[in-house]
Amino acid sequence: MKSLYLLILSLLLAALPAHAKDLALVAGASGGTGRLIAEALHAKGIAVRGLTRDPATAPKIDGVTWVAGDVTRPESLAPALAGVTIVVSAVGAREATGPNSFETVDWQGNRALIDAAVDAKVRQMLLVTAGSAGEGAWTDPRLARFGGSRNWKAKAETHLRDSALAYTIVAPGGLRDYPAGQQGVKLRTRSEYIVGPVARGDVAALIAACFDNTACFGKTITIVNDPQAKPGIPAAALQALPTDTPETIRAPAAVGQ
Ligand SMILES: NC(=O)c1ccc[n+]([C@@H]2O[C@H](COP(=O)([O-])OP(=O)(O)OC[C@H]3O[C@@H](n4cnc5c(N)ncnc54)[C@H](OP(=O)(O)O)[C@@H]3O)[C@@H](O)[C@H]2O)c1
Repeated sequence: MKSLYLLILSLLLAALPAHAKDLALVAGASGGTGRLIAEALHAKGIAVRGLTRDPATAPKIDGVTWVAGDVTRPESLAPALAGVTIVVSAVGAREATGPNSFETVDWQGNRALIDAAVDAKVRQMLLVTAGSAGEGAWTDPRLARFGGSRNWKAKAETHLRDSALAYTIVAPGGLRDYPAGQQGVKLRTRSEYIVGPVARGDVAALIAACFDNTACFGKTITIVNDPQAKPGIPAAALQALPTDTPETIRAPAAVGQ
């Protein structure tokens, strides 16, 4: 009788959608890219909690419940992570100085979120950074024109690689709001990054493809559009990319976005 019960239970569990038990926290879900990430995860049947500094002004997005949290206030993050299985960060500052600078949000804020994700024992953390933010970018004078943002993003990347988390770093070229899914993508390691534009929606599609996908674990993946390639995120290319080594994560020769 007991074995029949266990058999029925396992059949019922197997029939559940793949991510029925997941809860994704998307930090920055109110932003241009984060919103599309939240929508792409919801479309895959994943429950999404959006982290925002102000739930009252956050946009209404199908399938997203909002939680108040500020990455510059680490004490706000543990409650936001309760029950979360996978974390995505698409937060980003737009100012070089002040309380919401690249240093406080892109570096210290992401560091606090990574540390909170470690404490919450999540299964994977996906971090959106930038194509030019490679290892070594911290001291690369060519990146000064971005107000130091790439340098601070590089520090967050290093902190995530050094954490105990299974991670995926997605490093886009210049973000654009033209329609996604119209062009293919070039997916490269950081050191082989090629400067170019990319639709925010194609970045979101890459995050969704890498969500809970071991083919993306331990990898830094740069993405730009490729008008010559077939639209979509090729699973074989994700699989073929190498896991990070000191050689593959160094700052690319081409910097720009
Ligand atoms: N622009 C480019 O060409 C480019 C290129 C490569 C990479 N990137 C990077 O890609 C990422 C996404 O860019 P985007 O333009 O789509 O973003 P965005 O529209 O500027 O959105 C930024 C998000 O960050 C959140 N945020 C800011 N400060 C926060 C804080 N202290 N605590 C919690 N959340 C905070 C905001 O949420 P609330 O205001 O709701 O709190 C918002 O949802 C950024 O990291 C950006 O730097 C940009």
